[in-house]
Amino acid sequence: MNGVRLFSPATISNLSCGFDVLGLCLETIGDYMEITKSKKKGIYITSIIGEKVPYEVKKNVAGVSSEALIDSLNPDFGFEIKIDKKIKPGSGIGSSAASSVGAVVGINHLLGNPFKPEELIPYALEGEKLACGSEHADNVAPAILGGITLVRSTKPIDIIKLPIPKNLKAVIIHPKIEIKTADARKVLDKSIPLEKASQYWANLGAFVSSLYENNYELMKKSIVDNIIEPKRSQLIPMFDSLKQIANDNDSIGCGISGSGPSVFSLANGLKTAKIINNSFKKIYEETGIPFETYVSDINKSGVKILSAF
Ligand code: HSE
Repeated sequence: MNGVRLFSPATISNLSCGFDVLGLCLETIGDYMEITKSKKKGIYITSIIGEKVPYEVKKNVAGVSSEALIDSLNPDFGFEIKIDKKIKPGSGIGSSAASSVGAVVGINHLLGNPFKPEELIPYALEGEKLACGSEHADNVAPAILGGITLVRSTKPIDIIKLPIPKNLKAVIIHPKIEIKTADARKVLDKSIPLEKASQYWANLGAFVSSLYENNYELMKKSIVDNIIEPKRSQLIPMFDSLKQIANDNDSIGCGISGSGPSVFSLANGLKTAKIINNSFKKIYEETGIPFETYVSDINKSGVKILSAF
């Protein structure tokens, strides 16, 4: 085997009540990558289409993640990476995680899978560290493992895969303005009053319980963010209107996807998801701000090898 072509999915992190710990893998949005063995040792990024990201390995999230991986395995050949970047950097749907995950999963595959998927997470986190200075795994974990994940710990890595309720769909609106995660983290308070924190983790616990119970009513009550959203929503045009219209159309919770500017809604069934999607479009069409929307199933298996050659 000399090469692989793969799909590396977009993800919604935080899900309002799980800052830096909850994440959900999307089916319909993601990057494509081709990774081939090269005679020369090292990592080489030879093609990038779709979005502008650096070719320089040490400045590219896929580059630094792959370098960390080969440094630990030291194969006597190298790898060329081609990236078809469909997820815009700074969009809030795990653009850097998709690139980092795709790179390490592809290389691991070409090396005969010496690492289990979960064991690749620390390498992919090198990309997150480069992208925003923080090694949170809430996008990387669902991108690698699929489904809905809870990051119990990153040192050591401990990820819990959570159940996916029947008929759960995700709706995303991506206003085409860039919000860098590093900037969106700077607006957050460094400490939180205990009362606010206890409300927050009560909702996180209830959300996890709702997944096990397949209980949409409890899920709806739990997707609440009393800590991060009040700060970050100010960076997203029409955030309150999006939230209101999602709620008016039977959303099972609406909030900021990752660090924004994308906004997500969960929905029980495709019909409701499409109605929410149309209502999001109506709100944004009036702003003149370019945007994209997506309706997606939950991707149960994460990054996918499409072909090996
Ligand atoms: N949990 C991260 C944040 C996700 O909200 O800052 C963005 O990468």
